[in-house]
Amino acid sequence: LVTLNEFQALYAPKIQAEIQQVLLKFEIPEFQAALGHLLGRGKLFRPLLVLAAYHAVSGRSPAAYVPLATALELIHTFTLIHDDLPCMDDAQLRRGVPAVHVAHGEALALLAGDALLNMALLMLAEGGPRLAGAVRVRLIQSATFATHCVVEGQVLDLRGEGADVDVADLEYLHRAKTGALIGACCEFGGILARLQPEVIHMLHELGESIGLAFQMRDDLLSVVGDEQIVGKTLSTDAEKQKATYPRIVGVERSEEMLAELTRYNLAMIEQMELPAPELLIAIAASAGKRTH
Ligand code: IPE
Ligand code: IPE
Ligand code: MG
Ligand code: MG
Repeated sequence: LVTLNEFQALYAPKIQAEIQQVLLKFEIPEFQAALGHLLGRGKLFRPLLVLAAYHAVSGRSPAAYVPLATALELIHTFTLIHDDLPCMDDAQLRRGVPAVHVAHGEALALLAGDALLNMALLMLAEGGPRLAGAVRVRLIQSATFATHCVVEGQVLDLRGEGADVDVADLEYLHRAKTGALIGACCEFGGILARLQPEVIHMLHELGESIGLAFQMRDDLLSVVGDEQIVGKTLSTDAEKQKATYPRIVGVERSEEMLAELTRYNLAMIEQMELPAPELLIAIAASAGKRTH
């Protein structure tokens, strides 16, 4: 049995190494620099979740699936690069360094996002161990549907600026912009373990719900967090009057709702009676408590 810290210490370097391999596929030095600017600097929450979910449902080592898990980190990083652009959240700081458009210009930031999404899909099509074509199709379907949800979620996020948004709209928006991709991470674990569609569906529900908690915490960090520790521009939510839990229900109620949701997520994991749930439990608990 390994702890979440030990698991991170073991797999984060493998994910970083995979990222370095991906960067080598880009031959234009200044574009490689723009792509590598943020890639690998984050918490790697999503690829680690893919690997933890696979381990939870199978009891087996996820080592072979690092390249496929890394693909979802590429997609996530694409969404962050575009999210920070002046036409979107107009944020200057990301992962403790200047945003890609600040360091490398808007055009390369736009193209870096495009390249990362495309490269992620190529990795799902041909990366990692030998896999049945049907499994790869399921992975690509899961990743592309999640990306579709993120994009629509981002449209709703922009529409929510300064707008009168109720809690149901807000939950929908957060499930789309953040929950869907985290849902795909858990779903990946089930697809790779060749589980039944009903179980894969439950894993998606669980991941989406963990993602909702993750975004609620993100909203709270914009109010109570420390920009130095979080490593990104925190003033955007207030300046743009974003649709966030603190703005719609207040900080105190947001914290209560987050604690409630975390209990619900942990209960969901328990109910699934998985062979090795410990890491998944630790990740679900951490999503609502993180400080960065
Ligand atoms: C930031 O994601 C954007 C959200 C969906 C909240 P992370 O908090 O996972 O950021 P990184 O990847 O560690 O930088
Ligand atoms: C997070 O959006 C979801 C994305 C699709 C990027 P936010 O705008 O709420 O996240 P941060 O605070 O910039 O990381
Ligand atoms: Mg945003
Ligand atoms: Mg943002």
